[in-house]
Amino acid sequence: MIQPSTIGPLVALCGLTVLASFGLASDWRTPKLTECTLHPQIEARILKDVSFWGDAGIAEDVALSVCAFCDLDTQQQQQQGRQRDDSNTQQEKENCNKPQRVLIQNGTVYLNNLVASQYLGPFEHIGFLVELYEASQVYQLPDVEFTYWFGDNAPSYTMIKEGSGDTTWPWPPSSSSSSSDGSSSDGSSSSSSGKRQAVPAVLAWSKWDANSALVVPYSGAFRCSADSWDSLEAQLESLAAVDWGQRTEVAFGRWNGFCTHYIHWMKTADGEVMKCPRTHLNSISAAHPDLIDAYDLSKGKPVPLAHQNKYKYIVSTDGWSISSKFDKYLLLGSAVLKAASTRYGFYYDALVPWTHHLPFMVNSSGDIVEVVRWAKSHDAAARAVAEAGRRFALRHLARPARLCYLARLVRELARQMRYKPSCASRQLCVPLVQELRFLAGYERTRKSCRYAEVLLRYGDQDPAAALPLSQSAQPPAAFLADATSAAAAATAFGATPEPGVVGGGGVYATPPRQLEVIRRLHEGGAAWPRDDTAWRQQQQQQQQGQQGQQGRRQQRR
Ligand SMILES: *[C@@H]1O[C@H](CO)[C@@H](O)[C@H](O)[C@H]1NC(C)=O
Ligand SMILES: *[C@@H]1O[C@H](CO)[C@@H](O)[C@H](O)[C@H]1NC(C)=O
Repeated sequence: MIQPSTIGPLVALCGLTVLASFGLASDWRTPKLTECTLHPQIEARILKDVSFWGDAGIAEDVALSVCAFCDLDTQQQQQQGRQRDDSNTQQEKENCNKPQRVLIQNGTVYLNNLVASQYLGPFEHIGFLVELYEASQVYQLPDVEFTYWFGDNAPSYTMIKEGSGDTTWPWPPSSSSSSSDGSSSDGSSSSSSGKRQAVPAVLAWSKWDANSALVVPYSGAFRCSADSWDSLEAQLESLAAVDWGQRTEVAFGRWNGFCTHYIHWMKTADGEVMKCPRTHLNSISAAHPDLIDAYDLSKGKPVPLAHQNKYKYIVSTDGWSISSKFDKYLLLGSAVLKAASTRYGFYYDALVPWTHHLPFMVNSSGDIVEVVRWAKSHDAAARAVAEAGRRFALRHLARPARLCYLARLVRELARQMRYKPSCASRQLCVPLVQELRFLAGYERTRKSCRYAEVLLRYGDQDPAAALPLSQSAQPPAAFLADATSAAAAATAFGATPEPGVVGGGGVYATPPRQLEVIRRLHEGGAAWPRDDTAWRQQQQQQQQGQQGQQGRRQQRR
């Protein structure tokens, strides 16, 4: 892979050739990459997750069944006061606003729904969009369609049932529609019995074994916040400046104290139900102040992450799902103690206990005491764990590795598509670059992530910045009926397509009216097109058309 740092000399060396072959040397950029190499265990995770669909792959009706996930009618009734706002309707709202539907066509990333504005802001959502956009600029991504779920845990609807291996997905498409692709006539693909594969591709940043979601980096924590992984990496010199020998021989940890439901389903090797690490460690620390200083924030003073490198050992515990801090702790140059958990992130398969980190809550809920004693009495070994953990993180969690992961995942997922994803048959296809421009300027989201680093590097020369918001035959005027002027909507949805607004130096701008339409779509809270019903109607019409033709042919005979 050509690293950005080698581009400078390359351009200088062959400046003449570049000038000759590309015209504007100032606009030269590396061609998009198609290949990259991951750590073998991280690559294996992709192949394992993607193999879930087996030979059946993902048919278009299966992919579109995600549309049934959100029922806008229930929401509307609730808004109009015709239904109580109970936990069910709360769930309904989440179903409409935690999934982000994505379609990639000819290297351009599009969004097929827009999250309601009151759900905008979390970097779990926006960080992934920014990182996916960067991946699409560095790599040539194949045509694919999936849903990114930005809640804390992969949705339980994508769980795999014990025994049958089916998923719990409640909206498998009917068998008639999924056999209408004409690919098999032996009945083996009947999806009423083949519920196993009838779940769409859902990407999530934390999962467990009994879940069919595809795991992706927690990009928001990696790149968006002031104390993101990327900004800690930028402070590597100062983090490493505290010598091992100067660090305090105490295991340090801080977190919000709460306990997640899945802890109670776990047992330590002694057969006991696992105690909640975040509360149990309060009492262990109090009993062993010379070894452990790991408290929840109601009991211990907070210490900024970048100052925790004064301790030799750092304690990591999972929260609602994987801890985004674990990734960051690995950069500190301290040995990281990690509590056992069933939740994992995209790279966990490559982590080796006692090599990259020190495991605890394995044999008993109190075994951290022995682990810290071991570390104190095996100082060179503990130091080697600290260094190996840091090396692992720098190699496999840094941005180029994350972009490679997304590119590899998308490439493998694309092999599962049994149809050609196309914006021509989706009611809404908002080019991602336009959504990022909107988010970068919107009050609620402008601080959610660092947009400039991708928009300034790639956005200005992205032709997708000037595409309409819909390329389908029937623009979804309904989304905007009461929300905007007809003229703005018509332009934005391509009814009277404005030719790409190309300024000086090949810079593409999104018309301000179009960004305004994106805002209104978010604020309208209903930009969740039912492409599944539209698809079924289209299929029925085609079938009727074919039957009509057959009928006429038979009459002629
Ligand atoms: C696909 O994208 C390339 C540039 O990346 C462009 O040259 C080509 O015309 C596009 N093809 C279609 C069918 O849009
Ligand atoms: C658990 O017990 C095994 C066997 O005694 C030991 O090898 C291992 O180091 C222990 N693990 C922890 C985390 O204490």
